[in-house]
Amino acid sequence: TDPALIRNFCIIAHIDHGKSTLADRMLQITGVVDARQMRAQYLDRMDIERERGITIKSQAVRLPWTAPDGQIHILNMIDTPGHVDFTYEVSRSLAACEGAILLVDAAQGIEAQTLANLYLALENDLQIIPVLNKIDLPAAQPEKYAAELAHIIGCDPEDVLKVSGKTGVGVPELLDECVRLVPPPIGVKDAPARAMIFDSVYDSYRGVVTYVRVVDGDLKKRERIQMMSTGVTHELLEIGVISPEPKPSDGLSVGEVGYIITGVKDVRQSRVGDTITSLHNGATEALGGYKDPKPMVFSGLYPLDGSDYPELRDALDKLQLNDAALVYEPETSVALGFGFRCGFLGLLHLEIVRERLEREFNLELISTAPSVVYRVVMEDGTEHTVTNPSEFPGGKIAEVHEPVVRATILAPSEYIGTIMELCQTRRGVQIGMDYLSEDRVELRYTLPLAEIVFDFFDALKSKTRGYASLDYETTGEQQSALVKVDILLQGEAVDAFSAIVHKDKAYNYGVEMTKKLRELIPRQQFEVPIQAAVGARVIARENIRAIRKDVLAKCYGGDISRKRKLLEKQKEGKKRMKMVGRVEVPQEAFIAALSTD
Ligand code: GTP
Repeated sequence: TDPALIRNFCIIAHIDHGKSTLADRMLQITGVVDARQMRAQYLDRMDIERERGITIKSQAVRLPWTAPDGQIHILNMIDTPGHVDFTYEVSRSLAACEGAILLVDAAQGIEAQTLANLYLALENDLQIIPVLNKIDLPAAQPEKYAAELAHIIGCDPEDVLKVSGKTGVGVPELLDECVRLVPPPIGVKDAPARAMIFDSVYDSYRGVVTYVRVVDGDLKKRERIQMMSTGVTHELLEIGVISPEPKPSDGLSVGEVGYIITGVKDVRQSRVGDTITSLHNGATEALGGYKDPKPMVFSGLYPLDGSDYPELRDALDKLQLNDAALVYEPETSVALGFGFRCGFLGLLHLEIVRERLEREFNLELISTAPSVVYRVVMEDGTEHTVTNPSEFPGGKIAEVHEPVVRATILAPSEYIGTIMELCQTRRGVQIGMDYLSEDRVELRYTLPLAEIVFDFFDALKSKTRGYASLDYETTGEQQSALVKVDILLQGEAVDAFSAIVHKDKAYNYGVEMTKKLRELIPRQQFEVPIQAAVGARVIARENIRAIRKDVLAKCYGGDISRKRKLLEKQKEGKKRMKMVGRVEVPQEAFIAALSTD
């Protein structure tokens, strides 16, 4: 295709502002999917993916569109993953485009992810097309929010398009605007091939399907290609475009977007952000931007039943085929036995992985409290990287550094006070505040990542009756007065309960944890003291009193079946217990260690 007729764009939006619905409408209006085949969220349908034996999740779809000048243009709509944890992948998808539709719900207005995505799009020099969606809603306030949007991006409120992804109103005009406003790709046709990977998906039938945007030159079927970050070479077994199903072709040239298949089985061999070139007469300089994903949050994953350890290892191996950002290594815990220390991009990523392990692989897991990565500098100058609180070094510590994030919070202005208070209790430092309109503000804070990883978002939502939205990005690290608090059962530290907290919060943490554990751990045959300690200093203590009577004593001389039932019941209860030393600790106790309320 002549690059002058190509337009590459993405849709960026806050969650639920209607991205998928609008994409559906575009598929239908361009005739790529006919009314009979059409179903809601066409591009998201997993069962379709299975039927076709290939993942067609909405990474990139090619839409033919006849512009008002009568010429048929090729619109490539590129999907962006929607969450803070995957910012790097979002930025790679954006780098594959020249334009972005900034979609805002006309009944909600701008939210935190609207802004975060807008900033990313501007960093990538994209042409922004501001669009209000859901104008069919009775609650829509298009004039008000058009002004808000125009204010943010510095355009005229008149230039904000108004559409309904649901009814299709305004969508053909939006496609025309994409042709008019999004610049066509510029690349050098005769230069050595350079294509950027913006997504990579593992498919059990076909291996890894890699989505690329060709920047210079062209890639041809059957040629040998090279990954520029690693130098590894592959044969291009298949190359093509998606419209909306994969259509193999002979190649992809300047400015085009499509997929390639090389037969590799592991997404880590075809990584987002990497540059592909031809093996013969290849390019020498990669396109900018390749970064190894860096895990920010670590947690120990242990099978509830120790004999499931090999299954857990296999499951992690399989998940990693499809998730280049997941890292793990074996770990042993005195309390929990054999498991894995796993690193994640963020909390959502952790939750997704744990849920997949439990659902797809039928594993019952205990996960330890998530921890960020601490850098501990000792007085003798040696340094430790700590991802597990129980490995926090003793001895003479000079400095402890922790990661910090820059957070953006959007909320109605009546909640300013509440939000400031919350951020303060989480050691936040305010760096800015702006009014988006009379009644909505944007607050900017730096916060320690450790303070937001558990429940910050939940707390924010409940304190603002659901009206606040949050986005954050990691920005570096800061030195802080942090200490390790150990929890001891019968005088023995339980490694899975250790936590690193600010020294001003250590006492409170100790008191709360010991109280909580006293309630959660059932009474045993003997007394169990629970202590919290910083180093050798005990800062809190509770006692679990011993049980007086044997449960079976009740059944003494009674009928045997009742006795057996009782034993069965006890066994059921035990399954969810972990022996820590001589003490039985229920799974809830390990989970409760996570929640801070
Ligand atoms: P995520 O994929 O979860 O980020 O959401 P999304 O942004 O893709 O939003 P989605 O298309 O799933 O739409 C969210 C909700 O808004 C759904 O219930 C849609 O039916 C509804 N919706 C989307 N577009 C419109 C619209 O134009 N009008 C109305 N009335 N509802 C809409």
